[in-house]
Amino acid sequence: MEMVVVLWIWVFLLFSVQTQVLVISQNLTCDSNDLKGLTGFMKGLESPIDGWWPAPSSSLSSYNCCNWIGITCDSSSGRIAKLHLPFKELTGQLSDSVSYLDQLIMLNLSHNFLSGPLPVSLFHLTYLEVVDLSSNEFDQVLTFSINLPALQVLDISYNKLMGFLPFGLCVNSTGIRVLNFAVNYFTGIIPPQFKNCIFLEHLSVASNFISGIIPNFLLVLPRLKELTLQDNGFTSISGIGDSFSRLVRLDVSSNRLSGAIPDFFHSFLNLSYFSARSNNLSGVIPPSLLSSRTISSLNLRNNSLSGSINFKCSIMEHLTSLDLGTNKFSGTVPANLASCRKLKALNLARNKLTGQIPESFKKFESLSYLSLSNCSFNNLSSTLKILQNCPKLTVLILTMNFVTEQLPADDHLQFKSLKALVIANCRLMGSIPSWLNGLTQLQLLDFSFNHLTGMIPAYLGGFESLFYLDLSNNSLSGEIPKNLTQLQSMISRNISFEEPSPDFPFFKMNSNLSGRGSILQYKQIIRFPPLLDLSSNHLTGPIWWEFGNLKKLHVLDLKDNRLSGSIPASLSRMKNIETLDLSHNNLTGTIPTSLVNLNFLSKFSVAYNNLKGVIPNGGQFLTFSNSSFEGNPGLCGDYFEKCQIHKDSSQTPASSVDQHDDDELFILRLLVLIGFASGFLVTVISLLVVPRIR
Ligand SMILES: *[C@@H]1O[C@H](CO)[C@@H](O)[C@H](O)[C@H]1NC(C)=O
Ligand SMILES: *[C@@H]1O[C@H](CO)[C@@H](O)[C@H](O)[C@H]1NC(C)=O
Ligand SMILES: *[C@@H]1O[C@H](CO)[C@@H](O)[C@H](O)[C@H]1NC(C)=O
Ligand SMILES: *[C@@H]1O[C@H](CO)[C@@H](O)[C@H](O)[C@H]1NC(C)=O
Ligand SMILES: *[C@@H]1O[C@H](CO)[C@@H](O)[C@H](O)[C@H]1NC(C)=O
Ligand SMILES: *[C@@H]1O[C@H](CO)[C@@H](O)[C@H](O)[C@H]1NC(C)=O
Ligand SMILES: *[C@@H]1O[C@H](CO)[C@@H](O)[C@H](O)[C@H]1NC(C)=O
Ligand SMILES: *[C@@H]1O[C@H](CO)[C@@H](O)[C@H](O)[C@H]1NC(C)=O
Ligand SMILES: *[C@@H]1O[C@H](CO)[C@@H](O)[C@H](O)[C@H]1NC(C)=O
Ligand SMILES: *[C@@H]1O[C@H](CO)[C@@H](O)[C@H](O)[C@H]1NC(C)=O
Ligand SMILES: *[C@@H]1O[C@H](CO)[C@@H](O)[C@H](O)[C@H]1NC(C)=O
Ligand SMILES: *[C@@H]1O[C@H](CO)[C@@H](O)[C@H](O)[C@H]1NC(C)=O
Repeated sequence: MEMVVVLWIWVFLLFSVQTQVLVISQNLTCDSNDLKGLTGFMKGLESPIDGWWPAPSSSLSSYNCCNWIGITCDSSSGRIAKLHLPFKELTGQLSDSVSYLDQLIMLNLSHNFLSGPLPVSLFHLTYLEVVDLSSNEFDQVLTFSINLPALQVLDISYNKLMGFLPFGLCVNSTGIRVLNFAVNYFTGIIPPQFKNCIFLEHLSVASNFISGIIPNFLLVLPRLKELTLQDNGFTSISGIGDSFSRLVRLDVSSNRLSGAIPDFFHSFLNLSYFSARSNNLSGVIPPSLLSSRTISSLNLRNNSLSGSINFKCSIMEHLTSLDLGTNKFSGTVPANLASCRKLKALNLARNKLTGQIPESFKKFESLSYLSLSNCSFNNLSSTLKILQNCPKLTVLILTMNFVTEQLPADDHLQFKSLKALVIANCRLMGSIPSWLNGLTQLQLLDFSFNHLTGMIPAYLGGFESLFYLDLSNNSLSGEIPKNLTQLQSMISRNISFEEPSPDFPFFKMNSNLSGRGSILQYKQIIRFPPLLDLSSNHLTGPIWWEFGNLKKLHVLDLKDNRLSGSIPASLSRMKNIETLDLSHNNLTGTIPTSLVNLNFLSKFSVAYNNLKGVIPNGGQFLTFSNSSFEGNPGLCGDYFEKCQIHKDSSQTPASSVDQHDDDELFILRLLVLIGFASGFLVTVISLLVVPRIR
């Protein structure tokens, strides 16, 4: 029935449009082929496009399809030249009748939900230059012949396409400049026919299942600048002999490449970015790569490369980012790295490097990001003395080195521009040094998993940008300084962080609820959650009422200390809190009912304290298991241990209960009173009424 009505409307619309064609002047019309094409296109969709097929009352000119949203017509022929409908939430299929749009030059339907096969006829439109069907749900094997002689750009990335890459492409479409097949399910090899793509500038097959060799002809295509092959199953790279490559960016990361890196970099005239991260490459870095004149960003992280590191900085004058992390490089940090004049970001983490930081790093003027974690370096004192001379150093990560050394207390140390300092997991002795007081720009400080003693300095509370403070797993004692509750970035976070190389990973031990350290990896420091972790120390005293001010905090971990007093109800003002762990302390009193208002709270524990009274019920508390509350003999609740009536009265406010709690207590009492009153009434009524019924 509905179908019939829809059909009639179609017929009416078509008829009226055609009538306008005849009656009204020429520029109010659509070419009849285009109209057929659009009608078919519309039929393939599950819901109409806003602004197409005007309502009867709209002006006559709106009957002209050239005026419809997303359509551009050629001014002389009046034919549709562009169909541009990205981000329109279109669902349904792409109809075969697009072939009627035979003057189409550009088709952009990216970022919709179109599904099913791609119509064969689309691939025979003579004038089509740009096709963008990316980010849809097309799923199919592309086996048909393709004859798009004018094609320059084809983007079918982020779909569910399968089978071999359409190998015939460059046979009929000789002028292709851009081919993007990324994030699909393509299999097989790079087709040898791609040799014909002599005008190709960008090719991406990233995140598919392509395997085999990375062929010679691809590397040397005369116009190819960007080749993205990451996240496939390639097993080797061919050499390129006497030819030259004009590639500017080459990404072969996350494949299954093994063996040595070919020594062919002298043949790359313009290579600026090279990433072979996360393969199984072994051997040394080839000489031609150690002396590349053009490379600016080099990423060889997570392979099995070995030998010593020996870049020729006098030649590598463009090198700005060098990531050699997670390999088997040995020896010491080469002194000459400091003479790479543009080198800003250096990652040598997780290698077998030993010894001390060379004195030459004092003159490392460009250095901004340095990670040396998990090697076997020693002499933290001299390391810091040297690095404090690097004027641009903003991120310094020294985790897992300098085992059992003393954290230097030298008052002369100063790092004016440091924004992130991580010296975790080194079993360092000593106390939190006073030179830290000068690092007022600090946004992230991590001294976790050491053996530091003494108090937490109050001046940390004055660090306006500090949003991540981890001092967990040390032997710090004394009270938590109240000044920490004034940390501005945890109250109203507003920081910006310009990282030299957002590409580097940042390893961090996670000492969270499970207890055993696992490794967290964040891509960027700015992505770290606002955190205050003082867990596993010897801290005493209360949890300050003012902690409630830290509204931006996501993680507050105070577990495994000797904190006493009650849990302040003000914690319910930490609206963004996700993890709140107060377990393994000596806390008394009740759990404030207001905590049920913390909507993002997903991990909560008050286990092993001396809490008593009723466990609040409602909100996120419905999702916490017994383990969040165990080890508190005085606690009871619906899903824990049934409360005895007399225990309820033990809920009488301790010093911590705030106005909010008082209100709830009042309501509770009122309810009890009403209960009593109604019970009394029922009794009285039954006494009065029941005998009469009898
Ligand atoms: C085309 O339409 C425009 C606006 O609708 C109108 O101003 C113009 O006169 C029309 N041209 C012709 C040739 O009818
Ligand atoms: C398609 O449209 C989107 C959104 O306007 C745009 O980002 C994209 O570059 C277009 N595709 C092509 C190939 O021009
Ligand atoms: C090239 O176009 C012709 C004519 O449409 C067609 O027969 C042939 O199969 C096409 N070649 C490829 C490799 O798709
Ligand atoms: C290298 O690239 C630059 C611009 O990126 C260009 O000016 C230069 O011509 C290229 N050189 C070669 C040999 O392709
Ligand atoms: C390191 O590379 C291997 C493949 O060689 C991969 O399986 C693993 O996920 C990579 N690890 C990281 C942290 O990228
Ligand atoms: C990595 O390469 C080595 C030889 O260099 C080989 O023995 C090993 O099996 C490879 N590992 C994987 C996962 O391919
Ligand atoms: C430290 O490096 C060694 C190898 O050098 C590796 O086995 C270990 O997993 C690394 N540990 C961390 C926490 O990165
Ligand atoms: C640390 O390095 C400094 C300067 O190189 C040196 O004087 C000192 O003896 C070293 N300390 C240790 C414990 O090796
Ligand atoms: C702690 O905060 C108070 C009040 O803002 C301030 O006066 C005091 O100087 C701070 N203490 C330290 C050691 O920074
Ligand atoms: C960190 O503290 C927890 C809890 O006290 C403890 O179980 C763990 O062994 C500590 N880890 C280290 C590396 O000291
Ligand atoms: C946050 O920073 C931005 C730009 O850095 C500034 O425009 C804005 O006023 C700041 N907001 C607050 C609350 O400080
Ligand atoms: C816990 O606090 C009580 C007083 O509130 C005190 O008597 C007891 O010694 C404390 N226990 C520990 C382990 O600190």
